Amino acid sequence: MEILKVNDLTVYFDTRCRPVKAVDGISFALRRGETLGIVGESGSGKSVTALTVMGLAQSIGARIVSGEVWYDGKNLLSSQDLYRQVRGKKISYIPQEAAPALNPVLQVGKQLGEMLSVHLGLSAGDVRRKTAQLLETVELPQPELVARLYPHQLSGGILQRVLLAMALSCGPDIIIADEPASSLDTTIQAQILRLLGTIKAREGLSLILIAHDLGVIYQNCDRVLIMYGGRIMEAGLTSQILENPLHPYTVSLLETYRCLEEGMKQPGLTKSCPPASRENIPDALGCVFAYRCQRAMDICFLKKAPSLTLDDGRTVSCHHLLHLRQDGNPDARM
Ligand SMILES: Nc1ncnc2c1ncn2[C@@H]1O[C@H](COP(=O)(O)OP(=O)(O)O)[C@@H](O)[C@H]1O
Ligand SMILES: [Mg+2]
Repeated sequence: MEILKVNDLTVYFDTRCRPVKAVDGISFALRRGETLGIVGESGSGKSVTALTVMGLAQSIGARIVSGEVWYDGKNLLSSQDLYRQVRGKKISYIPQEAAPALNPVLQVGKQLGEMLSVHLGLSAGDVRRKTAQLLETVELPQPELVARLYPHQLSGGILQRVLLAMALSCGPDIIIADEPASSLDTTIQAQILRLLGTIKAREGLSLILIAHDLGVIYQNCDRVLIMYGGRIMEAGLTSQILENPLHPYTVSLLETYRCLEEGMKQPGLTKSCPPASRENIPDALGCVFAYRCQRAMDICFLKKAPSLTLDDGRTVSCHHLLHLRQDGNPDARM
């Protein structure tokens, strides 16, 4: 059953030259109890998607052109009041960078306590008890000591655990984690992701996990959306997509990942430079990946590829695949 549904979300940044289409007509659903991964190169629109779903698009200067975000029978985008009722309470967000998300001049225990008293209206005694309990939930060593420290006195791994405690403070249904601990070393990142997975299973949460690392997605996500240029290229079960990718972008992304893992040179996607930002992708009438795609046909530059649902349940937006299937080759591979 779906707990969150995003329909036709389009989000622009109005820059001096022309609008930058950070998110370009994407639709997806989060099912209750699952971990849904969103993966793609830097600049593909993952964070803007997450922040818009959290009702924070305006706070980063973005403009919502179209779209709906359905939760609990309501389209949250229809009113900021609805967001005030759910943000941080029913739907929590863990940002990529821990330090800017915390107040540098307030002890972390106090910050957690403030959330509890503001959102849940707890008494001072209950705030103390709940703060200690949350810090234990995120398996912090010496939680009483950590609660008395300021953010700059804590390591990146401990700060990520504090952010996780904050995200859990009001007993949410959904957590959206934007590349959690990706700036930390891989051992710490793996510990944080393992902890997030354990808590998610125990509390029955639904999770959106944003990552640029396919290994993180493979190990942690039930389903995955492959994003590029603000659009969803391919979506489906993680095992299906990563073990048998069909969209040329997914194929290249996996090739690049494998090459990097093996320390080889000339991975697939570096044959052409990834755009540093959405602004560098030509204003695509057609497929946003066409300019880098070795399979591109004329139509790919002219017309947006329709989303094709295959027998295994995945969706792929690719003219080339559509073309092969129309030629009667249902098992066509890229
Ligand atoms: N403040 C901004 N002003 C203009 N464009 C922006 C801004 N923030 C993001 N963008 C554009 O939106 C695109 C998507 O950004 P983002 O969602 O942060 O990518 P990701 O999280 O996948 O790395 C970027 O490529 C960039 O061009
Ligand atoms: Mg991001």
